[in-house]
Amino acid sequence: MPERRLTSAQRFLNACRQQPVDCTPVWFMRQAGRYMSEYRAIRAKHTLLEICERPELAAEVTLQPVRRLGVDAAILFADILLPLRPMGIQLEFAHGEGPVIHNPVGGAEDVDALRPVDPYASLSYVMEALRLVRRELDGRAALIGFAGAPFTLASYMIEGGSSRHYLKTKRLMYGDPHTWHRLMEKLARVIADYLAAQVAAGAQAVQLFDSWVGALSPDDYRRYVLPYSQAILRSLRATEAPAIHFGTGTACLLPLLKEAGGHVIGLDWQTPLDWGWSQLGYTVGVQGNLDPTALFAPDADLLGRIDRVLAQAGGRPGHIFNLGHGLLPETPVEAVKRVVEYVHERSSH
Ligand code: CP3
Repeated sequence: MPERRLTSAQRFLNACRQQPVDCTPVWFMRQAGRYMSEYRAIRAKHTLLEICERPELAAEVTLQPVRRLGVDAAILFADILLPLRPMGIQLEFAHGEGPVIHNPVGGAEDVDALRPVDPYASLSYVMEALRLVRRELDGRAALIGFAGAPFTLASYMIEGGSSRHYLKTKRLMYGDPHTWHRLMEKLARVIADYLAAQVAAGAQAVQLFDSWVGALSPDDYRRYVLPYSQAILRSLRATEAPAIHFGTGTACLLPLLKEAGGHVIGLDWQTPLDWGWSQLGYTVGVQGNLDPTALFAPDADLLGRIDRVLAQAGGRPGHIFNLGHGLLPETPVEAVKRVVEYVHERSSH
């Protein structure tokens, strides 16, 4: 293995700022999760919310992929929906169905009833987990904090769970724009404070997940969403931590995501990385974007696909290797490990 000049944490943080690296940093969305036997062992004894709420469990699960895979960054084990609970949303992770919200937001009165959140009081377990992980990592990998972006969180609040067409969300957005904007304002405030608290607790970078924003046209994104994601990302500039701004289905939204902000823009796996980066004018970093199902392909095919992503990045500073969306629960751990080793080896210089 070639000699490394940088620690994992430096490699990742340099890439976030488009500074030179010794090889391409790599981590995976959903790198802590069911595809890993160590995670399943803990999950067999605790609910998802218990793991999130108990800092020593959240820290342990966060560290599992660092130990097993050698990734350059750890992402705190939590969920984007956690901050909705202190706002007054009753959240449950129903077995095999994903998140369920028992009191979805239907209109103006429900938005009025949403409470402001002091993250240090209501989400202190997240900060405690970050402190534990940061101490334990001791520079072995960078620590990423995260939050859901206002649109994606609003879609869960309004739909009551996952959705296909976002019909209720768009009905509120188009039919009662005043209420929509008030909801987005409330969410933006909560998320900005939550992310600032995460940085204060030790997160060295943050990722804003706007996972389902690809449901919107560019015009609707600009009018109904951009100002709120932008307010969050602007407020983070007061901290040292770089921000990664991620969404899927975003090929037509890339210039607007960049306008909203972020040092790094996450590219989904349908977008050719070189085309996506050129859409962004190369003035921000990019993260991505291997197809999550490539990890189920025969070895030679998987490696060819990794080579293609690296070739499209072209050795420019500012590429963070990742998938174009999260790891799937069925993914073989050996393939994930192989990706880390191969990315480091092939991109060394
Ligand atoms: O390793 C990591 O990535 C850190 C942990 C993490 C989780 N959720 C834990 C989790 C992160 C970063 C998230 C973010 C998240 N949560 C997103 C954005 C990322 C994306 O995929 O676009 C979204 C949309 C959610 C909401 C959510 N949480 C859904 C839709 C589900 C169910 C889907 C599923 O895979 O079952 C969850 C549950 C969840 N959050 C799991 C994990 C590991 C799986 C459930 C389990 O262990 O029982």
